Amino acid sequence: MTPPDYEYLRKFLKDHSGLDLSADKHYLIESRLLPLARKSDLNGISELVQKLKGGSATFVTQVVEAMTTNETFFFRDKIPFDHFREVILPEMIKARANRKSIRIWCAAGSTGQEPYSLAMCVKEMSAALAGWRVDILATDLSQEVLEKSKSGIYSQFEVQRGLPIQMLVKYFKQTGELWQINPEMRAMVQHRQLNLLQDFAQLGVFDIIFCRNVLIYFDQDTKVNIFNRLAKATESDGFLVLGAAETVVGLTDAFKPFADRRGLYRPNAPAAAPGRMLGIGAGIKKAAIAGT
Ligand SMILES: C[S@@+](CC[C@H](N)C(=O)[O-])C[C@H]1O[C@@H](n2cnc3c(N)ncnc32)[C@H](O)[C@@H]1O
Repeated sequence: MTPPDYEYLRKFLKDHSGLDLSADKHYLIESRLLPLARKSDLNGISELVQKLKGGSATFVTQVVEAMTTNETFFFRDKIPFDHFREVILPEMIKARANRKSIRIWCAAGSTGQEPYSLAMCVKEMSAALAGWRVDILATDLSQEVLEKSKSGIYSQFEVQRGLPIQMLVKYFKQTGELWQINPEMRAMVQHRQLNLLQDFAQLGVFDIIFCRNVLIYFDQDTKVNIFNRLAKATESDGFLVLGAAETVVGLTDAFKPFADRRGLYRPNAPAAAPGRMLGIGAGIKKAAIAGT
C-alpha cells in the first residue's frame, strides 16, 4: 500500500465512521480490506482506493463495514449489567412510576448480544415491571450486523460466551447447530441503522443509553461531540453506560460519573424535565414486556 493510499483510507474512514487510525495501522487495513478487494476482483489496495474514489455508495458501505470491529458477547463485562439490575432499573421504576414506561437505547448494538442481554434482564424483573412498557432500540452503523441482530440467531460458540446456561435454556430455542432467541425477546428490541457521527435527535430522548466499546475507536473531538449530543438524548434523571475503557472524564461536563459504579454516568446539567420529546421517534414501534 502506498503512503497516499494509506492516507486516503485513513481520512475516508474517519469521515465515514469516525474510526481514528494511527499512522502505523497498515496491517489492520490490509487484513480487513484485502479480502474485500479479492472478492471485488480488484488487484490490491491501490485498485480498491481507485474504486472508492469512483464513489459507488454500495462499495463505500462495504469498505466501511469491513473496517468495523463487531466484537461483542452476551453480558459482556458483567458489571454494566449489574448496574442495570441493581441501580438503573430500580431507580427508573421509582422515577417512572406514573408514566410506567422506559426507553432504552443500545447505541452500537452490533449483532444483538448487548440489547438481548438487556431484554433478558428486563424480563427477569417482570414482576416489578408488570403493566410497564419497556422499549429497547438497538442501532448500529452496519446493516450487516443489524440483520443478524434482528434474526436473533447465534452459533453454539456465541451462546457459550457470557450467557448463563439457565438463560440459554429459558430464552433460546435450538435448531440444529444454531440457537434463536425467542420471539418475545425479539419483539422487545427494535432495530435501526444509525451512524453516531450523524444527527440522532430524531430518535427522541431516552431514559437509559448503553454506548459501549465504540467511542474507543474515535478521536477526542469526535467523542466530545457525541457525548454532548448523547446528553441531549438522555432524560435529565437518566443514565449513560460506557465501556470499560471509555470515560467522559476530562472530555466533557455533559455527564458526571455515578459514585462507586464504574462506567455509569448521569447527565450533569439537565436541559429539561423528564418526559420531554416523548413521542418523537414514534416511528420506532413500541413493544410492551409480553406477559406483564
Ligand atoms: C466492538 S462493537 C461493540 C458492541 C457492543 N456495544 C458491545 O460492547 O459488546 C462496536 C460496534 O460499533 C459499531 N460502529 C462503529 N462505528 C460506528 C458509528 N460511527 N456509528 C454507529 N456504530 C458504529 C460497529 O459496527 C460495531 O458493531
